[in-house]
Amino acid sequence: MNDGVRIEGMVYDASSAFAPSAAMGGESPRNRMASAELQEDDLSLDRSLRPQKLADYLGQTKIKESLEILIQAAQQRGDVVDHILFSGPPGLGKTTLATVVANEMGANIKTTSGPAIERTGDLAAILTNLEDGDVLFIDEIHRMNRMVEEVLYPALEDYALDIVVGKGPAARSIRLDLPRFTLIGATTRTGLLTGPLRDRFGMAFRLNYYTPEELADIVIRSAAILDVEAEREGALEIARRSRGTPRLANRLLKRVRDWAQVKGSGVIDEDTAAQALEFFEVDSLGLDSVDNRILELLCQQFGGRPVGLSTLASALSEDPDSLEDVYEPYLMQQGLLVRTPKGRQATQRAYDHLGILPPAGQ
Ligand SMILES: Nc1ncnc2c1ncn2[C@@H]1O[C@H](COP(=O)(O)OP(=O)(O)OP(=O)(O)O)[C@@H](O)[C@H]1O
Ligand SMILES: [Mg+2]
Repeated sequence: MNDGVRIEGMVYDASSAFAPSAAMGGESPRNRMASAELQEDDLSLDRSLRPQKLADYLGQTKIKESLEILIQAAQQRGDVVDHILFSGPPGLGKTTLATVVANEMGANIKTTSGPAIERTGDLAAILTNLEDGDVLFIDEIHRMNRMVEEVLYPALEDYALDIVVGKGPAARSIRLDLPRFTLIGATTRTGLLTGPLRDRFGMAFRLNYYTPEELADIVIRSAAILDVEAEREGALEIARRSRGTPRLANRLLKRVRDWAQVKGSGVIDEDTAAQALEFFEVDSLGLDSVDNRILELLCQQFGGRPVGLSTLASALSEDPDSLEDVYEPYLMQQGLLVRTPKGRQATQRAYDHLGILPPAGQ
């Protein structure tokens, strides 16, 4: 997902926070808050709270340790870091990690995204403008077109660019040398990456959902930057409802801060956090509207029977890949959904969460 402005559904306006149903046409503020998609006002929040160094990047311990080794080894050799791929659901810190790697290497980072590179010439221009040691970050790398991708192959392997000059029988290919650089690719959908591209990354890391403890650490760090006092229990309350996702944790922190400032003492303790999150109708498991819709479909419309991926995806108007890569992992991690040989099925916990009984005989 790139960091471009994406405005979907309603835009939450803090000034209307205390009259949600009237001001928001009856829509719950939850829809707006419990999604990891970036909204306009989150962009500045994302930037101001984004860790710049590995030491500030909390959680994902294994990935951090590996990166530390890669970076140190490259520095000792006076070389660039090998090309890296980060994958995982939105808001888990892929863009952040790319920035952190560049900062730790003392390198410049140039950022673009798969869909933004439309023609091979666009990529050639980007590559020839790189300087020695630069980090090139390509977000949504799975959305790059094939022709562009093929230009990237020799650039990644040999730091070279093959260009064709002339036309017809006189056409010939010349090879330009490029500076040494590190490509960092990010994708929410590893499944859509072609084999040849995936193979050209020296390292591929899959980011996992954060534990409530890790998210609480992130909330406390963010609270300090926002200059609000947050107690550990208050931070944990926010963390538990953040869908394992730092971006959501930061967004909820901001809402809880507003609530604490107006309705409470300004300090985010457990009670304040719980009351504020209750007020904003944040789901107790942090589920967003799509997550809840998936569970409702499985439990109600499909009567609790196993449902095939493509059937479920079309009922949701989502594509099967994003259902599989973006939504299901969290629901499975929470024990709300299982993949069976016959299809996807909701668990007892899903029925409990929706507050309904499983159909007789299930
Ligand atoms: N490990 C972390 N420690 C502290 N804060 C984090 C961490 N990971 C992410 N964040 C916070 O969450 C925000 C979102 O992270 P980021 O933009 O890197 O996610 P992403 O994986 O690139 O998402 P997308 O797929 O939507 O592009 C960051 O701006 C940062 O404030
Ligand atoms: Mg990103």
